[in-house]
Amino acid sequence: MRQSTLLKKFDITINEDWSFAESRSVEHFTHGYHRYPAKFIPQIVKKLIEKYTVKGDKIVDVFAGCGTTLVESKLHGRRSEGVDINPVAELITRTKIAAIEPEILISEFEALKHQFDSYDSNQIYIADNHPRIDYWFEQSQKNKIAYLYQIILNNECLTQKDFFLCALSNILKNCSKWLQTSTKPQIDPKKPIRDPFDALVFQISRMLKKNEEFFNELKAHNNLNTPCIIKLADARKTGIRANSADAIITSPPYVTSYEYADIHQLTGYWYDYIQDLPEFRRNFIGTFYSNNKDVEMEIPLAKEIVQALLPISKKSAGEVANYFRDMLAVISEMRRILKPNGVVCIVVGNTTMKNVKIQSAEVFAQMLYIQGLHVEEVIKRKIPFKLIPTIRDEKTGKFTTLTSENKKLVYPEEFIIIARKPLLN
Ligand SMILES: C[S@@+](CC[C@H](N)C(=O)[O-])C[C@H]1O[C@@H](n2cnc3c(N)ncnc32)[C@H](O)[C@@H]1O
Repeated sequence: MRQSTLLKKFDITINEDWSFAESRSVEHFTHGYHRYPAKFIPQIVKKLIEKYTVKGDKIVDVFAGCGTTLVESKLHGRRSEGVDINPVAELITRTKIAAIEPEILISEFEALKHQFDSYDSNQIYIADNHPRIDYWFEQSQKNKIAYLYQIILNNECLTQKDFFLCALSNILKNCSKWLQTSTKPQIDPKKPIRDPFDALVFQISRMLKKNEEFFNELKAHNNLNTPCIIKLADARKTGIRANSADAIITSPPYVTSYEYADIHQLTGYWYDYIQDLPEFRRNFIGTFYSNNKDVEMEIPLAKEIVQALLPISKKSAGEVANYFRDMLAVISEMRRILKPNGVVCIVVGNTTMKNVKIQSAEVFAQMLYIQGLHVEEVIKRKIPFKLIPTIRDEKTGKFTTLTSENKKLVYPEEFIIIARKPLLN
Protein backbone atom coordinates (compact mmCIF):
# COMPACT_ATOMS: atom_id res chain seq x y z
CA MET A 1 0.00 0.00 0.00
CA ARG A 2 1.31 3.49 -0.83
CA GLN A 3 1.60 6.02 2.00
CA SER A 4 -0.90 8.35 0.28
CA THR A 5 -3.50 5.53 0.12
CA LEU A 6 -2.88 4.91 3.80
CA LEU A 7 -3.59 8.54 4.68
CA LYS A 8 -6.85 8.48 2.65
CA LYS A 9 -8.19 5.97 5.21
CA PHE A 10 -8.52 8.91 7.62
CA ASP A 11 -10.66 10.96 5.27
CA ILE A 12 -13.92 9.40 6.48
CA THR A 13 -17.13 10.39 8.18
CA ILE A 14 -17.89 9.81 11.83
CA ASN A 15 -19.12 6.33 12.67
CA GLU A 16 -21.97 6.89 15.16
CA ASP A 17 -21.81 3.24 16.31
CA TRP A 18 -18.64 4.14 18.20
CA SER A 19 -19.75 7.38 19.89
CA PHE A 20 -21.68 5.78 22.78
CA ALA A 21 -23.35 9.12 23.39
CA GLU A 22 -26.32 7.37 24.99
CA SER A 23 -24.30 5.25 27.40
CA ARG A 24 -25.63 5.63 30.90
CA SER A 25 -22.41 5.10 32.80
CA VAL A 26 -18.67 4.92 32.42
CA GLU A 27 -18.25 4.28 36.14
CA HIS A 28 -19.85 0.84 36.45
CA PHE A 29 -18.03 -2.11 38.05
CA THR A 30 -14.61 -1.03 39.32
CA HIS A 31 -14.21 1.50 36.49
CA GLY A 32 -15.37 4.27 38.83
CA TYR A 33 -12.85 3.68 41.65
CA HIS A 34 -10.52 6.58 40.92
CA ARG A 35 -10.41 9.65 38.68
CA TYR A 36 -7.89 9.41 35.83
CA PRO A 37 -7.43 11.89 32.98
CA ALA A 38 -8.22 10.69 29.44
CA LYS A 39 -9.26 7.23 30.53
CA PHE A 40 -11.00 5.03 28.01
CA ILE A 41 -14.70 4.82 28.06
CA PRO A 42 -15.19 1.11 28.83
CA GLN A 43 -17.75 0.74 26.02
CA ILE A 44 -15.04 1.24 23.35
CA VAL A 45 -12.84 -1.43 24.86
CA LYS A 46 -15.80 -3.81 25.26
CA LYS A 47 -16.74 -3.43 21.61
CA LEU A 48 -13.13 -3.94 20.44
CA ILE A 49 -12.75 -7.03 22.63
CA GLU A 50 -15.98 -8.51 21.29
CA LYS A 51 -15.05 -7.74 17.69
CA TYR A 52 -11.40 -8.78 17.62
CA THR A 53 -10.86 -11.45 20.30
CA VAL A 54 -12.33 -14.71 21.59
CA LYS A 55 -12.53 -16.19 25.10
CA GLY A 56 -9.11 -17.28 26.37
CA ASP A 57 -7.17 -14.83 24.16
CA LYS A 58 -4.51 -12.63 25.70
CA ILE A 59 -4.94 -8.84 25.55
CA VAL A 60 -2.19 -6.32 26.32
CA ASP A 61 -2.27 -2.60 27.11
CA VAL A 62 1.13 -0.87 27.07
CA PHE A 63 -0.34 2.41 28.41
CA ALA A 64 -2.63 0.77 30.95
CA GLY A 65 -3.48 3.96 32.87
CA CYS A 66 -6.19 3.16 35.39
CA GLY A 67 -6.73 -0.29 33.87
CA THR A 68 -9.86 0.00 31.71
CA THR A 69 -8.57 -2.54 29.18
CA LEU A 70 -7.60 -4.99 31.92
CA VAL A 71 -10.92 -4.73 33.78
CA GLU A 72 -12.89 -5.25 30.57
CA SER A 73 -10.62 -8.14 29.53
CA LYS A 74 -11.28 -9.92 32.82
CA LEU A 75 -15.03 -9.34 32.51
CA HIS A 76 -14.86 -10.97 29.07
CA GLY A 77 -12.75 -13.94 30.18
CA ARG A 78 -9.67 -12.81 28.24
CA ARG A 79 -6.23 -13.07 29.88
CA SER A 80 -4.54 -9.69 30.09
CA GLU A 81 -1.31 -7.92 30.91
CA GLY A 82 -0.66 -4.20 31.18
CA VAL A 83 2.18 -1.83 31.93
CA ASP A 84 2.33 1.84 32.86
CA ILE A 85 5.23 4.06 33.90
CA ASN A 86 3.12 5.74 36.59
CA PRO A 87 3.10 4.00 40.01
CA VAL A 88 -0.26 5.63 40.80
CA ALA A 89 -1.72 4.01 37.67
CA GLU A 90 -0.22 0.69 38.77
CA LEU A 91 -1.84 0.97 42.23
CA ILE A 92 -5.25 1.93 40.81
CA THR A 93 -5.19 -0.84 38.21
CA ARG A 94 -3.99 -3.50 40.68
CA THR A 95 -6.90 -2.54 42.92
CA LYS A 96 -9.47 -2.46 40.11
CA ILE A 97 -8.64 -5.91 38.74
CA ALA A 98 -8.70 -7.60 42.16
CA ALA A 99 -12.27 -8.73 42.73
CA ILE A 100 -12.49 -9.36 46.48
CA GLU A 101 -15.06 -11.38 48.45
CA PRO A 102 -17.43 -8.56 49.53
CA GLU A 103 -17.68 -9.88 53.13
CA ILE A 104 -13.91 -9.61 53.59
CA LEU A 105 -13.90 -5.96 52.61
CA ILE A 106 -16.91 -5.12 54.74
CA SER A 107 -15.31 -6.55 57.88
CA GLU A 108 -11.96 -4.89 57.14
CA PHE A 109 -13.72 -1.57 56.66
CA GLU A 110 -15.38 -2.01 60.07
CA ALA A 111 -11.97 -2.74 61.64
CA LEU A 112 -10.58 0.41 60.06
CA LYS A 113 -13.51 2.57 61.18
CA HIS A 114 -13.00 1.40 64.77
CA GLN A 115 -9.60 3.06 64.73
CA PHE A 116 -11.04 6.40 63.65
CA ASP A 117 -12.09 7.06 67.27
CA SER A 118 -8.48 6.87 68.44
CA TYR A 119 -7.49 9.91 66.40
CA ASP A 120 -6.12 12.61 68.68
CA SER A 121 -5.99 16.07 67.10
CA ASN A 122 -3.31 17.14 69.63
CA GLN A 123 -0.91 14.51 68.38
CA ILE A 124 1.30 15.01 65.32
CA TYR A 125 1.17 11.96 63.06
CA ILE A 126 3.61 13.11 60.42
CA ALA A 127 7.05 14.53 61.03
CA ASP A 128 9.27 13.80 58.09
CA ASN A 129 6.96 14.53 55.15
CA HIS A 130 7.82 15.74 51.65
CA PRO A 131 7.86 19.59 51.75
CA ARG A 132 5.27 19.77 48.94
CA ILE A 133 2.71 18.14 51.24
CA ASP A 134 2.83 21.34 53.32
CA TYR A 135 2.20 23.34 50.17
CA TRP A 136 -0.91 21.41 49.19
CA PHE A 137 -2.54 20.61 52.54
CA GLU A 138 -3.80 22.56 55.56
CA GLN A 139 -2.26 21.36 58.83
CA SER A 140 -5.49 19.77 60.12
CA GLN A 141 -6.15 17.82 56.88
CA LYS A 142 -2.52 16.82 56.69
CA ASN A 143 -2.56 15.37 60.20
CA LYS A 144 -5.76 13.40 59.59
CA ILE A 145 -4.49 11.99 56.28
CA ALA A 146 -1.22 11.00 57.94
CA TYR A 147 -3.20 9.18 60.62
CA LEU A 148 -5.39 7.40 58.03
CA TYR A 149 -2.33 6.41 56.01
CA GLN A 150 -0.68 4.94 59.08
CA ILE A 151 -3.69 2.97 60.24
CA ILE A 152 -4.12 1.49 56.74
CA LEU A 153 -0.46 0.49 56.57
CA ASN A 154 -0.16 -0.79 60.14
CA ASN A 155 -3.50 -2.46 60.83
CA GLU A 156 -2.73 -6.17 60.78
CA CYS A 157 -6.38 -7.06 60.14
CA LEU A 158 -6.20 -5.41 56.73
CA THR A 159 -5.29 -7.95 54.05
CA GLN A 160 -6.55 -5.71 51.25
CA LYS A 161 -4.29 -2.70 51.74
CA ASP A 162 -4.36 -1.75 48.03
CA PHE A 163 -8.13 -1.28 48.21
CA PHE A 164 -7.87 1.17 51.11
CA LEU A 165 -4.78 2.94 49.73
CA CYS A 166 -6.55 3.43 46.41
CA ALA A 167 -9.54 4.90 48.25
CA LEU A 168 -7.31 7.26 50.23
CA SER A 169 -5.50 8.28 47.03
CA ASN A 170 -8.75 9.32 45.37
CA ILE A 171 -9.79 11.65 48.21
CA LEU A 172 -6.47 13.52 48.39
CA LYS A 173 -7.48 16.11 45.82
CA ASN A 174 -10.77 16.92 47.59
CA CYS A 175 -8.92 17.22 50.91
CA SER A 176 -6.22 19.52 49.52
CA LYS A 177 -6.09 23.11 48.28
CA TRP A 178 -5.79 21.94 44.62
CA LEU A 179 -8.33 23.73 42.39
CA GLN A 180 -11.03 21.07 42.16
CA THR A 181 -12.06 21.66 38.54
CA SER A 182 -8.52 21.59 37.17
CA THR A 183 -5.98 18.90 36.33
CA LYS A 184 -3.30 21.58 36.46
CA PRO A 185 -1.47 21.96 39.78
CA GLN A 186 -3.04 25.17 40.98
CA ILE A 187 -4.08 26.36 44.44
CA ASP A 188 -7.64 27.52 45.07
CA PRO A 189 -7.42 29.76 48.13
CA LYS A 190 -11.22 29.75 48.58
CA LYS A 191 -11.78 26.03 48.24
CA PRO A 192 -14.12 24.36 50.74
CA ILE A 193 -11.87 21.48 51.78
CA ARG A 194 -13.39 18.13 52.71
CA ASP A 195 -12.80 16.37 55.99
CA PRO A 196 -10.58 13.32 55.28
CA PHE A 197 -12.51 10.98 57.59
CA ASP A 198 -15.88 11.78 55.98
CA ALA A 199 -14.43 11.70 52.48
CA LEU A 200 -12.78 8.33 53.06
CA VAL A 201 -15.94 6.73 54.47
CA PHE A 202 -17.90 7.99 51.46
CA GLN A 203 -15.25 6.82 49.00
CA ILE A 204 -14.89 3.34 50.52
CA SER A 205 -18.67 2.89 50.66
CA ARG A 206 -18.86 3.65 46.91
CA MET A 207 -16.00 1.28 46.15
CA LEU A 208 -17.56 -1.51 48.24
CA LYS A 209 -20.64 -1.46 45.99
CA LYS A 210 -18.55 -1.45 42.84
CA ASN A 211 -16.37 -4.30 44.05
CA GLU A 212 -19.47 -6.36 44.83
CA GLU A 213 -20.93 -5.68 41.39
CA PHE A 214 -17.62 -6.67 39.73
CA PHE A 215 -17.16 -9.76 41.92
CA ASN A 216 -20.69 -11.04 41.23
CA GLU A 217 -20.38 -10.46 37.49
CA LEU A 218 -17.06 -12.32 37.29
CA LYS A 219 -18.42 -15.15 39.45
CA ALA A 220 -21.56 -15.50 37.35
CA HIS A 221 -19.45 -16.00 34.23
CA ASN A 222 -16.71 -18.07 35.83
CA ASN A 223 -14.12 -15.38 35.21
CA LEU A 224 -12.89 -14.80 38.77
CA ASN A 225 -9.58 -16.54 38.12
CA THR A 226 -8.90 -15.19 34.65
CA PRO A 227 -5.21 -14.14 34.71
CA CYS A 228 -4.73 -10.38 34.76
CA ILE A 229 -1.41 -8.68 35.51
CA ILE A 230 -0.28 -5.06 35.84
CA LYS A 231 3.38 -4.05 36.02
CA LEU A 232 5.28 -0.83 36.45
CA ALA A 233 7.27 -0.59 33.20
CA ASP A 234 8.05 1.53 30.19
CA ALA A 235 5.94 1.02 27.06
CA ARG A 236 9.16 1.10 25.01
CA LYS A 237 10.55 -1.90 26.90
CA THR A 238 7.73 -3.73 28.61
CA GLY A 239 9.31 -7.07 29.41
CA ILE A 240 6.17 -8.76 28.03
CA ARG A 241 6.94 -12.04 26.21
CA ALA A 242 7.47 -11.78 22.43
CA ASN A 243 4.70 -13.14 20.17
CA SER A 244 2.37 -13.56 23.16
CA ALA A 245 -0.56 -11.16 22.60
CA ASP A 246 -3.62 -11.87 20.47
CA ALA A 247 -4.57 -8.20 20.74
CA ILE A 248 -3.23 -4.90 22.03
CA ILE A 249 -5.85 -2.33 22.98
CA THR A 250 -4.36 0.97 24.02
CA SER A 251 -4.53 4.78 24.03
CA PRO A 252 -1.19 6.60 24.14
CA PRO A 253 -0.65 9.82 26.05
CA TYR A 254 -1.42 12.95 24.03
CA VAL A 255 1.45 15.17 23.04
CA THR A 256 2.30 17.72 25.79
CA SER A 257 -1.18 18.00 27.25
CA TYR A 258 -1.71 15.89 30.36
CA GLU A 259 1.32 15.85 32.64
CA TYR A 260 0.47 12.58 34.38
CA ALA A 261 3.46 12.87 36.73
CA ASP A 262 2.30 16.29 37.94
CA ILE A 263 -1.37 15.38 38.07
CA HIS A 264 -0.67 12.46 40.42
CA GLN A 265 1.80 14.27 42.63
CA LEU A 266 -0.44 14.27 45.74
CA THR A 267 -0.50 10.47 45.87
CA GLY A 268 3.14 10.47 44.75
CA TYR A 269 4.26 12.52 47.76
CA TRP A 270 2.13 10.71 50.33
CA TYR A 271 3.05 7.21 49.16
CA ASP A 272 6.75 8.02 48.61
CA TYR A 273 6.61 7.44 44.85
CA ILE A 274 8.12 10.90 44.29
CA GLN A 275 11.26 12.27 45.87
CA ASP A 276 12.17 14.63 43.06
CA LEU A 277 9.42 15.65 40.60
CA PRO A 278 11.69 16.43 37.55
CA GLU A 279 13.36 13.02 37.99
CA PHE A 280 9.94 11.32 38.37
CA ARG A 281 8.75 12.92 35.11
CA ARG A 282 11.75 11.72 33.11
CA ASN A 283 10.36 8.59 31.44
CA PHE A 284 6.80 9.79 30.81
CA ILE A 285 6.03 10.02 27.09
CA GLY A 286 4.45 13.20 25.71
CA THR A 287 5.74 15.49 28.41
CA PHE A 288 6.14 19.22 28.05
CA TYR A 289 9.45 19.03 29.96
CA SER A 290 11.42 17.04 27.39
CA ASN A 291 13.93 19.81 26.43
CA ASN A 292 14.78 17.83 23.31
CA LYS A 293 16.65 19.62 20.54
CA ASP A 294 17.06 16.79 18.03
CA VAL A 295 14.38 17.32 15.37
CA GLU A 296 15.49 14.71 12.80
CA MET A 297 12.51 12.47 11.88
CA GLU A 298 12.33 9.35 9.75
CA ILE A 299 8.52 9.16 9.43
CA PRO A 300 7.47 11.39 6.46
CA LEU A 301 4.42 13.05 8.04
CA ALA A 302 6.16 13.47 11.41
CA LYS A 303 8.98 15.22 9.57
CA GLU A 304 6.52 17.62 7.87
CA ILE A 305 4.85 18.49 11.17
CA VAL A 306 8.13 19.11 12.97
CA GLN A 307 9.43 21.22 10.07
CA ALA A 308 6.24 23.31 10.15
CA LEU A 309 6.68 23.93 13.89
CA LEU A 310 10.38 24.78 13.78
CA PRO A 311 10.14 28.40 12.59
CA ILE A 312 7.33 29.08 15.09
CA SER A 313 8.78 27.44 18.19
CA LYS A 314 11.95 25.38 18.47
CA LYS A 315 10.82 24.14 21.87
CA SER A 316 7.49 22.81 20.57
CA ALA A 317 9.19 21.25 17.53
CA GLY A 318 11.59 19.46 19.88
CA GLU A 319 8.75 18.21 22.11
CA VAL A 320 6.74 16.86 19.17
CA ALA A 321 9.83 15.23 17.60
CA ASN A 322 10.63 13.61 20.91
CA TYR A 323 7.05 12.36 21.25
CA PHE A 324 7.01 10.80 17.78
CA ARG A 325 10.42 9.19 18.33
CA ASP A 326 9.19 7.65 21.60
CA MET A 327 5.98 6.45 19.94
CA LEU A 328 7.94 4.78 17.14
CA ALA A 329 9.84 2.83 19.79
CA VAL A 330 6.50 1.85 21.40
CA ILE A 331 5.08 0.65 18.07
CA SER A 332 8.19 -1.45 17.50
CA GLU A 333 7.70 -2.96 20.99
CA MET A 334 4.01 -3.66 20.22
CA ARG A 335 5.02 -5.50 17.05
CA ARG A 336 7.40 -7.64 19.13
CA ILE A 337 4.69 -8.51 21.66
CA LEU A 338 1.99 -9.37 19.10
CA LYS A 339 1.47 -12.92 17.89
CA PRO A 340 1.54 -13.36 14.10
CA ASN A 341 -1.94 -12.34 12.89
CA GLY A 342 -2.44 -10.47 16.19
CA VAL A 343 -4.27 -7.17 16.09
CA VAL A 344 -3.47 -3.76 17.58
CA CYS A 345 -6.19 -1.18 18.29
CA ILE A 346 -4.91 2.32 19.01
CA VAL A 347 -7.29 5.06 20.11
CA VAL A 348 -5.83 8.47 19.33
CA GLY A 349 -6.89 12.06 18.66
CA ASN A 350 -5.36 14.77 16.46
CA THR A 351 -4.74 18.27 17.76
CA THR A 352 -3.12 21.60 16.92
CA MET A 353 -0.13 23.25 18.50
CA LYS A 354 0.78 26.87 17.73
CA ASN A 355 -1.73 26.61 14.87
CA VAL A 356 0.09 23.62 13.34
CA LYS A 357 -2.02 20.50 12.87
CA ILE A 358 -0.53 17.57 14.78
CA GLN A 359 -2.01 14.56 12.98
CA SER A 360 -0.88 11.95 15.49
CA ALA A 361 -3.34 9.36 14.13
CA GLU A 362 -1.97 9.58 10.60
CA VAL A 363 1.61 9.58 11.88
CA PHE A 364 0.91 6.43 13.93
CA ALA A 365 -0.53 4.77 10.81
CA GLN A 366 2.70 5.52 8.94
CA MET A 367 4.70 4.12 11.84
CA LEU A 368 2.62 0.92 11.89
CA TYR A 369 3.13 0.59 8.14
CA ILE A 370 6.90 1.12 8.44
CA GLN A 371 7.00 -1.50 11.20
CA GLY A 372 5.36 -3.98 8.83
CA LEU A 373 1.87 -3.97 10.37
CA HIS A 374 -1.09 -3.83 8.00
CA VAL A 375 -3.62 -1.05 8.74
CA GLU A 376 -6.93 -2.88 8.27
CA GLU A 377 -9.46 -0.32 9.36
CA VAL A 378 -9.72 3.24 10.63
CA ILE A 379 -12.78 4.30 12.63
CA LYS A 380 -13.58 7.94 13.30
CA ARG A 381 -15.61 8.54 16.43
CA LYS A 382 -17.15 11.56 18.07
CA ILE A 383 -16.16 12.17 21.68
CA PRO A 384 -19.26 12.95 23.71
CA PHE A 385 -18.56 16.34 25.24
CA LYS A 386 -19.25 15.26 28.79
CA LEU A 387 -16.67 12.49 28.82
CA ILE A 388 -13.33 14.05 27.96
CA PRO A 389 -11.99 17.55 28.50
CA THR A 390 -11.59 18.73 24.93
CA ILE A 391 -10.50 22.27 25.57
CA ARG A 392 -7.00 23.71 25.22
CA ASP A 393 -5.88 27.10 26.49
CA GLU A 394 -4.89 29.09 23.41
CA LYS A 395 -1.99 30.79 25.18
CA THR A 396 -0.37 27.92 27.07
CA GLY A 397 -1.47 25.07 24.77
CA LYS A 398 -2.42 22.98 27.84
CA PHE A 399 -5.82 21.46 28.59
CA THR A 400 -8.11 23.83 30.40
CA THR A 401 -11.66 24.16 31.68
CA LEU A 402 -14.80 25.12 29.81
CA THR A 403 -14.95 28.42 31.66
CA SER A 404 -11.48 29.64 30.64
CA GLU A 405 -11.57 32.71 28.41
CA ASN A 406 -8.75 31.38 26.18
CA LYS A 407 -10.51 28.06 25.58
CA LYS A 408 -10.24 26.42 22.18
CA LEU A 409 -11.92 23.18 21.17
CA VAL A 410 -9.62 20.22 20.57
CA TYR A 411 -10.20 16.50 20.19
CA PRO A 412 -13.91 16.73 19.32
CA GLU A 413 -13.28 13.45 17.55
CA GLU A 414 -10.70 10.72 17.59
CA PHE A 415 -9.63 7.71 15.57
CA ILE A 416 -9.38 4.02 16.31
CA ILE A 417 -6.66 2.51 14.16
CA ILE A 418 -6.81 -1.26 13.68
CA ALA A 419 -3.65 -2.92 12.35
CA ARG A 420 -2.56 -6.53 12.06
CA LYS A 421 0.82 -8.25 12.29
CA PRO A 422 1.38 -10.46 9.25
CA LEU A 423 1.15 -14.23 9.67
CA LEU A 424 4.68 -14.65 8.37
CA ASN A 425 7.39 -12.46 9.88
C1 LIG B 1 -4.22 8.20 27.77
S1 LIG B 1 -3.55 7.49 29.22
C2 LIG B 1 -4.15 5.82 29.14
C3 LIG B 1 -5.46 5.70 29.81
C4 LIG B 1 -6.00 4.29 29.78
N1 LIG B 1 -6.44 3.91 28.46
C5 LIG B 1 -7.16 4.15 30.76
O1 LIG B 1 -8.26 3.80 30.39
O2 LIG B 1 -6.94 4.48 31.93
C6 LIG B 1 -1.85 7.32 28.84
C7 LIG B 1 -1.01 6.62 29.89
O3 LIG B 1 0.33 6.51 29.42
C8 LIG B 1 1.16 6.45 30.55
N2 LIG B 1 2.56 6.63 30.12
C9 LIG B 1 3.22 7.76 29.79
N3 LIG B 1 4.49 7.47 29.45
C10 LIG B 1 4.63 6.13 29.54
C11 LIG B 1 5.70 5.23 29.30
N4 LIG B 1 6.91 5.65 28.92
N5 LIG B 1 5.47 3.90 29.46
C12 LIG B 1 4.25 3.44 29.87
N6 LIG B 1 3.22 4.26 30.14
C13 LIG B 1 3.39 5.58 29.96
C14 LIG B 1 0.60 7.53 31.47
O4 LIG B 1 1.00 7.31 32.80
C15 LIG B 1 -0.90 7.31 31.25
O5 LIG B 1 -1.40 6.45 32.22
